[in-house]
Amino acid sequence: MIPRFVWWPNSKKRSRSDNGGDAMIWLRDVTKEYGPEKKVLDKVDLHIKRGEFVYVMGHSGAGKSTLLKLLFASERPTHGEVVVGGVNVGNLTRRDMPFFRRKVAVIYQDFKLLPRRTVLENVAFALEVVGRPRREINERSEKILYEVGLLHHMHKLPATLSGGEQQRVAIARALVRDPWLLLADEPTGNLDNFRSQEIFTMFDRINERGTTVLIATHALELVERQSKPRRTLYIERGGILEEDERDILSWTPFPLPAVGHDDDGE
Ligand SMILES: Nc1ncnc2c1ncn2[C@@H]1O[C@H](COP(=O)(O)OP(=O)(O)O)[C@@H](O)[C@H]1O
Ligand SMILES: [Mg+2]
Repeated sequence: MIPRFVWWPNSKKRSRSDNGGDAMIWLRDVTKEYGPEKKVLDKVDLHIKRGEFVYVMGHSGAGKSTLLKLLFASERPTHGEVVVGGVNVGNLTRRDMPFFRRKVAVIYQDFKLLPRRTVLENVAFALEVVGRPRREINERSEKILYEVGLLHHMHKLPATLSGGEQQRVAIARALVRDPWLLLADEPTGNLDNFRSQEIFTMFDRINERGTTVLIATHALELVERQSKPRRTLYIERGGILEEDERDILSWTPFPLPAVGHDDDGE
């Protein structure tokens, strides 16, 4: 079956004005409220290119998970448009959803593996739901498990593996679908420093293969320790700020002193 929309970059009909040009993620004037009292994002514009690797930081409750949910179409914006891979998420129907979820993969803090299925079955399941032939499913699943160093565990249940290994299964499950965009929501929240670093290195490799990567985390130490400088966004007070924009704000957290109240001796 040919999907009703054709995925960027193959679409010949693609119009720049409609899908953000080279954008993998394009937010236009997006506001997200959970009810009238709870505005999480306020008129946000954001452009992330295909192939970029981006960190999204912000304190707990700032709206990192909300942003990811908008990108994964599990929440709809209150106002504005969310375009992912050239697809306006607001126009997705239930029928489009399996295809969309194949191309936009999410990694969670708590792994979200299927507890009664083996490692191999967990990875294969991601392809079964999109109806690939059995032989292709097994070959691809085993190849990816080999790449994440877990082939020897493929017949085990997730609970018998360490946290770091379980997260690698989740990564394998995402990769096997050859996603355009990998979203990770506090992916190392349950892991120690060593395992966290291992997972971050894996995200680097995934990005090198062409997948756009967006990692939401409040683990500043871990982000700062990474050797490659990456674009880092901060969600603060309903806005999404680039690093340089944030520096200006962080120097003026309070109203300026009243006139005549100088400290410089004048
Ligand atoms: N389904 C929801 N209903 C109401 N409020 C929510 C819902 N989801 C998140 N929130 C609130 O929105 C704010 C942002 O949450 P979230 O996106 O989870 O932040 P973060 O991931 O940065 O910690 C928080 O104040 C949270 O309590
Ligand atoms: Mg969160």
